[in-house]
Amino acid sequence: MNLSDIQLPIAPLLQHFHDAQNRMATSNIAIIQQLNAHIQANKGKQLRPLLTLISACCCGLPLNAQPTHPIFSTAAAIEMLHTSTLIHDDVIDNSNLRRNSPTVNSLWNNKTAVLIGDFYLAQVMKTINTIDNHLLTNAINNTVIQMCEGELLQQQCSGLYNTDINLYLTIINKKTATLISTCCLSGAILANDNPSIHTAAAQFGTELGIAFQIRDDIIDFLPSNTTGKPQGNDIREHKCTLPIILALKNPKTNDKLLPLINKNNISHSDLQAAITLITDAGYIDLAKNELYKHLQHAHTLLHNLPDNIYRHAMSDIVDSLKEI
Ligand code: IPE
Ligand code: IPE
Ligand code: MG
Ligand code: MG
Repeated sequence: MNLSDIQLPIAPLLQHFHDAQNRMATSNIAIIQQLNAHIQANKGKQLRPLLTLISACCCGLPLNAQPTHPIFSTAAAIEMLHTSTLIHDDVIDNSNLRRNSPTVNSLWNNKTAVLIGDFYLAQVMKTINTIDNHLLTNAINNTVIQMCEGELLQQQCSGLYNTDINLYLTIINKKTATLISTCCLSGAILANDNPSIHTAAAQFGTELGIAFQIRDDIIDFLPSNTTGKPQGNDIREHKCTLPIILALKNPKTNDKLLPLINKNNISHSDLQAAITLITDAGYIDLAKNELYKHLQHAHTLLHNLPDNIYRHAMSDIVDSLKEI
C-alpha cells in the first residue's frame, strides 16, 4: 500500500501538517523524550491524517490555507490518537513487533506503554479542545469512546469461536472504522458548513474503515517481513477475525481447525498449520471477496461528495486497499 503518489494533490499542505506534528507531545521528562524518539523514528503510513487533509480539500479547503488553520493540528492530533491506540493495542495483543520494529511494551514494559499512550491521548484532547469547534470535539470524544468499546467487546469475544459476522462487524466498526470515519468527517467539518456534506464524508469513512480492518485481518496471515507485525498474532490471541469466522462455519474445516487454535498456548507448528489450513481451504480468498464488496460500497458513497481531484485521490485510497 503506497500512499506517496496519492498525497501529491495536497503536497502544499504537508509541511504545515508536519510542523503541527512537531509541536505536539514535547516534554522535559527524559523518558518521554526517549519514547518520542523511538515512536518518531518508526512512523506508519499516516493514512489517517492524509484522509483528513484530502477530505478537507474535497470539501473546500483551499491549498493555500494558512499554517494556523485548525486542519493541521487536527490532522496531527488524529495521527497521535491513532499512535496512542496502537501503543495500547500492542499491550492488549501481547505484540512485540510493529512497523518492523520492537513495540514500546517489548522495549520498555507494559506500564510504560500504558502511560505514554495515556500521555499522547491527553495531548490529543488538549489540542482538540484548543480548536474550540463543538462538532469536532464531539466527533473526537465519540471516537475515543467507540474505540474503547470495540477493544473491550473484542476482548470479551476472544476465544468464543462461534462469534457471528454481525458481531465481528460491530467490533471492527467501533475499533477501527469510527476513527477513519472521523478523519473524513473532521476534514469536512473544518472546510464546509453543510451538514449533508459532513454526513457524506463520515459515511464514506465508515465503509472505508470497515474495509481497512478486514484487509488488516487478512494480512495478519502474511509473514511478518511483509507486514512488519507478528504473523498470525490474531490466531495466537484467540481473536475471531473474518477468515477464521468463515472457516469455522464449514463443519469439516471446523473439525480440523478448532483443535489447533482452541487452546491456551498455540505452538508455532499449530499456528502454521492453522494458517495453511485456512488459506488452502479458500477462506482468505472468501474474506478478500468481502473486502472487495466494502471497497465497492465505499466507491459508491464517494459520489455524495463534491467531484474534484481530491475526491479522485480518495478513490485512489479505496483502490490501494485492494492490493494485498
Ligand atoms: C493499524 O493501522 C491498526 C489498524 C486499525 C488495523 P495502520 O495499518 O494504518 O498502521 P500504521 O500507522 O500504518 O502503522
Ligand atoms: C486494530 O486492530 C487496533 C486498533 C484499532 C487500535 P488490530 O489489533 O488488528 O491492529 P494491529 O494488527 O495490531 O495493527
Ligand atoms: Mg493488534
Ligand atoms: Mg491486525
